[in-house]
Amino acid sequence: MKYCSTRAPALDESGRKHFCEILLEGLAPDGGLYLPEHYPQVDQAQLARWRNVYRQQGYGALAFEVLSLYIDDIPASELRAICDKTYTQAVFGTPQIVPLTQLHDALTPAGQAPLFLEALSNGPTLAFKDMAMQLLGNLFEFELGRRGEQLNILGATSGDTGSAAEYAMRGKKGVRVFMTSPLGRMSPFQQAQMFSLQDDNIHNIAVEGVFDDCQDMVKAVSNDLDFKRQYKIGTVNSINWARLMAQVVYYFAGYFQATTNNSERVSFTVPSGNFGNVCAGHVARMMGLPIAALVVATNENDVLDEFFRSGVYRVRSSADTHETSSPSMDISKASNFERFVFDLLGRDGVRLKALFGDELQQTGRFDLSADPAFGKAATVYGFESGKSTHADRLNTIRTTFERFGVLIDTHTADALKVAGEHRQAGVPMIVLETALPIKFAATIVEALGREPDRPPQFEGIEALPKRVTRMAADPAAIKAYIAQHCR
Ligand SMILES: Cc1ncc(COP(=O)(O)O)c(C=O)c1O
Repeated sequence: MKYCSTRAPALDESGRKHFCEILLEGLAPDGGLYLPEHYPQVDQAQLARWRNVYRQQGYGALAFEVLSLYIDDIPASELRAICDKTYTQAVFGTPQIVPLTQLHDALTPAGQAPLFLEALSNGPTLAFKDMAMQLLGNLFEFELGRRGEQLNILGATSGDTGSAAEYAMRGKKGVRVFMTSPLGRMSPFQQAQMFSLQDDNIHNIAVEGVFDDCQDMVKAVSNDLDFKRQYKIGTVNSINWARLMAQVVYYFAGYFQATTNNSERVSFTVPSGNFGNVCAGHVARMMGLPIAALVVATNENDVLDEFFRSGVYRVRSSADTHETSSPSMDISKASNFERFVFDLLGRDGVRLKALFGDELQQTGRFDLSADPAFGKAATVYGFESGKSTHADRLNTIRTTFERFGVLIDTHTADALKVAGEHRQAGVPMIVLETALPIKFAATIVEALGREPDRPPQFEGIEALPKRVTRMAADPAAIKAYIAQHCR
């Protein structure tokens, strides 16, 4: 299997690469995103076999089956070992790794197809990012070891991504993490999660400034190409194909749990921001997983809902990007969306370059409403969408707790609200749960008047010793720090 850029001309095979070549890369050199040159097809017999693999051998074995269709430059025995050591009950809390909970009570209409939550947030940082990031840590360690190379991951975080990256890379050979965050601006829980890590290869840097200052520092270092090369600076951002590929697996695992045989179809509703999570659902559907609808749920930052309703993709200015109570979906543009548009427009890289490389850069928008391909987003690719607001979130958290005794976080609440508007007779709906409520406690208190329960392993973490370096918002300071710690 080779990978091509979404902006490469269709017949130009010169830039195509194998998996391990793109594993440590971000964007393709032409500014596009990598995608497999075709989606491997899973026929009925294979789907039936995978159902048994998941049931009898577990999630790690299912992950190996899916991943081995996309990775041909890691020996099968090594890849299997990586999958098995990544997806364990010890790390993810249950043997199913992504268990389903059915939401059902006396008010549920008789005969209505079931509604499920799929728990993706029982990993070390209590958010779905762990599902992919934990695999990435093990893939990085394997590939860097094989090459005899090192990687210094430099990032900026306002909370979630930083901790998922740190928990994935802690103790990994060949990898160091330098994670900047705005001093005093993360919640005490988030600070404790990150700063209590004592591993030598994890460096927390609290920057005297706001999140944008952290991002500017990271950009300044990345733009210094000599420094970047000398110190092997890399990132773990959400456009990495390996992260998306890892997420494909839980669509299969959700399907196998919600159905008893492969003639059934299910729909998924996905809380969406950068379009990474739901894009993995699109890939699973393209592989042949019987998905009826992929419902994109946004918060007030409705860039994606607007596109699926109107055909207009319009990025927002910072002033037009709302700070909401589902903050991980507060995006101004959806950085993985280009992957879907590539498929929607018949994999026409030249057109993608004109749309994303030129038109979007110059005007901040493009309009596909008059293009016959736009209708296919719904009719061929199964996409639907909806939006949820702060009031919806509070209401959904409250009613879900009162009716089903299940406490959900704010992002999952957005999805559950939108899912309710997209139920189809006879088709089970699976809502992806992307974080645990403890991470967004203030809104839970607002909705329910009580604090969410804290998983036992996080009791008292605020009191643990912290390992963090305070720094001025100055690129020279972070460069000096990196140089000092890479000796
Ligand atoms: C808790 C949570 N839910 C949903 C999302 C949205 O996922 P995506 O950006 O892949 O669309 C994120 C992304 O960071 C998240 O952290």
